[in-house]
Formats: sequence, structure tokens, C-alpha cells
Amino acid sequence: MLTAITRGVSETLAHGELTFRDRAPIDIALARRQHAAYEAALIALGVRIDQLPAENAYPDAVFVEDVAMVLDEIAIVTAPGAASRRGETESIARAVGKYRPVQHLSPPATLDGGDVVRIGKTLYVGLSSRTNQSGIDQLGGLLSPLGYMVLAVEVEGALHLKTACTYAGRGILLANPEWADTNIVTDVEILAVDEQEPWGGSVLAIGDSLVMAASFPRTRAKLEARGFTVVPVDLSELQKAEGGPTCLSIVFDAPNA
Ligand code: GLY
Repeated sequence: MLTAITRGVSETLAHGELTFRDRAPIDIALARRQHAAYEAALIALGVRIDQLPAENAYPDAVFVEDVAMVLDEIAIVTAPGAASRRGETESIARAVGKYRPVQHLSPPATLDGGDVVRIGKTLYVGLSSRTNQSGIDQLGGLLSPLGYMVLAVEVEGALHLKTACTYAGRGILLANPEWADTNIVTDVEILAVDEQEPWGGSVLAIGDSLVMAASFPRTRAKLEARGFTVVPVDLSELQKAEGGPTCLSIVFDAPNA
């Protein structure tokens, strides 16, 4: 069954890392309602939720995608690029260990899961302020023997590669080409975000549906015109913390869950 690991919203969310966003007041109660609505949207799409408790010591811990990846064969606990997030790995290792054998990235590697766009057996990994070449090399070392190809993509102007682009499915990469060198992504059509919505490139594909922040109606219309079913979710408070729909979950198939 398709499963999503999520984590409750930290009381301290407003004190999290910000790289390209200006700090703005965050309504934690509203953030929690929005997070619950996000989980409800996944449930409506047939996904089972495995919710971990909030970790108030780690303001950004709700953004679980950054600290672990789950592939069919193994789970990889990352080496988060922000020092304030490294403690999140302990509990996520236990969580993903219920489903897969676990491997860890280690220094000097840094890598955030938000930098990894997977298209089939190819993983495009953003070289960003959070992910370094050593992280990409270690990931390649773990995954090449399993038949995956790991390729670096320069990211400029965005926190993560998945802030700039995500794979929508059906051969379409939704992208803000200003923020990532998408030329390296082959065999896909690049569908550009609406120019008034530079942050609109992040969608979470669940089957044929795309979970997307509600604040990008123009980009949503472009996706719908291409036949996608878009599920908009209001994520305003989580966006203020520089998060989006992909980073709120780790989605994978757990046949026996
Ligand atoms: N606030 C999200 C992050 O920087 O990791």
C-alpha cells in the first residue's frame, strides 16, 4: 500500500531555517490545520499515513522529506545540509527502518532529500546550498549497485531542486528553469511554471493526481490543461517556513503495511 511518513508540526516552526524567504509570523494552529488537510488529501488519494510525533527541538522537522529517502530496495538517511536539522535523523532512521534496510550518508557529505527528483531509476540531485558533491557521490555509491543512475543538477536561487522542479508524471517535468539547469534532465518535456508564480514548480504526484499548494492557480491551470488532476491544499503557513507539498512527506510503497 502507498504509505506516507509525515511528522507533526513543531511548536517552534517559526524559528526554522530560511534561505530564500523573509521571516514572517507563522500561525502554528493554522499550520497544524493545513498539515492535517494535507494528510487528508493524501488519504483521499488512497495513501496510508504513518505520522511521527512532532519534535519541538527541531523547528523544521515537519519537512521529513529532507532527512530520509525510501526506494524499493533500501532507505537512506541523509546528512542534512543545515546543522540545525541534523538531529532529525535519529528518529527518522527508526521510522524508515520499519520498512526497509537502512543506509546512512556521512560527513563530509551533505544532502537534503528535497534535492532529489526521481524519474524511474534516475535520480537527479540538486547541487545546492544544502547538498554537496560528496553527498551526491555517496548516494551514487549506494545506489549504482542497485541499478540507479545519480546525476547532479546545479540549483541557483532556490532552496532545493524540488523547489525548482518536480516530476509530474506522463513525461512532464514541471519547472522554473531560472532556478535549475534542467537541460540535464533528458527524455522529458519541460512545462514551465507561470512566470508570476516562480515558486509553483513543486507538486507531489500520487498516481495520476498532483497535490499542490493552492497559491499557484495559474500553474495549476497549465497542469489541468495537460490533463492532470490537481488537488490544491492551502499551505500558506508551511510556505512561510520555506516548505512545500513534497517536503511534508516521504511516500513509498509498503506492500505489507
Ligand atoms: N525551513 C526549511 C528548511 O530550511 O529546511
